[in-house]
Amino acid sequence: MAKYNDLDPKKWKEYTDINTDSLWIIDKRDNSGAHTGDYHGNFVPQIPHQLFSRYTKKGDWILDPFMGSGTSLIEAQRMGRNSIGIELQQTVACEARERIETERRDDCAVKVVSGDSRTIDMDKIMNDIGIKKLQFVIMHPPYWDIIKFSESKNDLSNMESLDEFLGAFGEVIDNSTKRLEKNRYCACVIGDKYSNSQVIPLGFYCMNKFIEKGFLLKAILVKNFGETKGKSNQQGIWRYRAITNDFYIFKHEYIFVFKKVK
Ligand SMILES: C[S@@+](CC[C@H](N)C(=O)[O-])C[C@H]1O[C@@H](n2cnc3c(N)ncnc32)[C@H](O)[C@@H]1O
Repeated sequence: MAKYNDLDPKKWKEYTDINTDSLWIIDKRDNSGAHTGDYHGNFVPQIPHQLFSRYTKKGDWILDPFMGSGTSLIEAQRMGRNSIGIELQQTVACEARERIETERRDDCAVKVVSGDSRTIDMDKIMNDIGIKKLQFVIMHPPYWDIIKFSESKNDLSNMESLDEFLGAFGEVIDNSTKRLEKNRYCACVIGDKYSNSQVIPLGFYCMNKFIEKGFLLKAILVKNFGETKGKSNQQGIWRYRAITNDFYIFKHEYIFVFKKVK
């Protein structure tokens, strides 16, 4: 049996709900229980669910350094995994903590911290909890400035240039993965953007950051995305613009999976 998940190879035919293909079409958000879906810029719970099933075991420790509304932590808790969430905005972190608490279970721990994931003292957080290593890191950073999350200059969505954004993202990778156990995995969920009439392939730039830092690239997954709240009434306008211009409307984002080998 693989050491990084609880799946039983003998039962592989029974795991019909576990994705093994690189194209993920998820039609409906899981809005059950604490998963409200109200936070603009959240991801669907099915993303962490699939990743945790494949790359973690019950009792493992998972870190999400861009916690937002706490989707990964809610899912981790439901699946019997321990989790740490870091979120820059204190009010967002508090709301997430309250939401996670509504599904509290005694057999797993959840730690929510407010701070800047580039510089927050991970050693202190982990020493306080009494753990030495993380077994999985899930990252869902701002897609640079597509959604402005706060006014803070420490917010990755407020970085003034692409280089600054990628530099800050690199700092989060370093700080979040230094205590990730060797031979375990991390994942990054991100989409691309348009600027000045050209595609800025944020996804591939972020993917390269991990590769430069010595991670092995294990998967490039393409996930569909439906209408965002902001664009739901504008389908026709965007289709008109695309047909009368030279671009395509983004309907996908990426999930990159990496293995820490050094
Ligand atoms: C794309 S959202 C994550 C949403 C989350 N996956 C969810 O389902 O709610 C990115 C989050 O990163 C936070 N953020 C931005 N810069 C940060 C930083 N330097 N440190 C920690 N969090 C940051 C933003 O406030 C935002 O909540």
